[in-house]
Amino acid sequence: MAGEKIYEGKAKILYTTDDPNILLTHFKDDATAFNALKKGTIEHKGAMNCAIASHLFEYLATQNIPTHFIQQTAPDRMQVVAVKILPLEVVVRNIVAGSLCKRTGIAIGTVLKQPLVEFYYKNDDLGDPLFTEDHIALMALASPEQVAQLRQMALTINQHLQDFFLNCQLILVDFKLEFGIDAHGNLLLSDEISPDTCRLWDQTNLDPQARIMDKDRFRQDLGNVAAAYQEVMARIQAVISQK
Ligand code: C5P
Repeated sequence: MAGEKIYEGKAKILYTTDDPNILLTHFKDDATAFNALKKGTIEHKGAMNCAIASHLFEYLATQNIPTHFIQQTAPDRMQVVAVKILPLEVVVRNIVAGSLCKRTGIAIGTVLKQPLVEFYYKNDDLGDPLFTEDHIALMALASPEQVAQLRQMALTINQHLQDFFLNCQLILVDFKLEFGIDAHGNLLLSDEISPDTCRLWDQTNLDPQARIMDKDRFRQDLGNVAAAYQEVMARIQAVISQK
């Protein structure tokens, strides 16, 4: 049962439960982009992202990635381990898109020779700036050992997710991860993995706009946003049911 609301973010609400080590995440249909300058809703997004994230966390657990996921308790609700979220967003990129195009001038779609890992400081007032490891140390956001562990975990997760999505005929362009520390001091993959937090391109479609299956459809007003999320969910469920 949901208890007290302890946090409301742009796409999720976090509630306490009877157990201090367990929290309940409610996935909302609300969508924001450009640090909440653009706002809207995507029909059934909460339930779709909750289902997608649940499947992906379960899959990663089978690959020995420690995650905060416990179980899905309703279409748009997920029980998770209570963690202290690190104020860092860890982005992994396989193909150039989004802010990397703007920062470097490299053309969208350029395949990277090796995955690029970036850290962003989670701070809405500052607009989530890109941080170097020296900035992370300066602000004491994580120890150098934790940063090394985050990088390694993010790269391992990238390999597993790339494999998984290729089975769904989806190309994992880039994605954002968040991590938290549980009551025992363990680093757990947290937050969500969904079309809100990943760029996914349809491998079967070469049209640069039609192939977009993620939140870029909302960011760029491309239409058919909910249909793209629905298709991602259907492909994931099809792959899971084959296993
Ligand atoms: O905007 P940018 O190109 O830096 O985004 C890289 C990846 O991280 C994209 O998949 C985007 O959806 C995700 N991201 C996110 N939350 C943010 C910023 C980026 O999920 N606050």
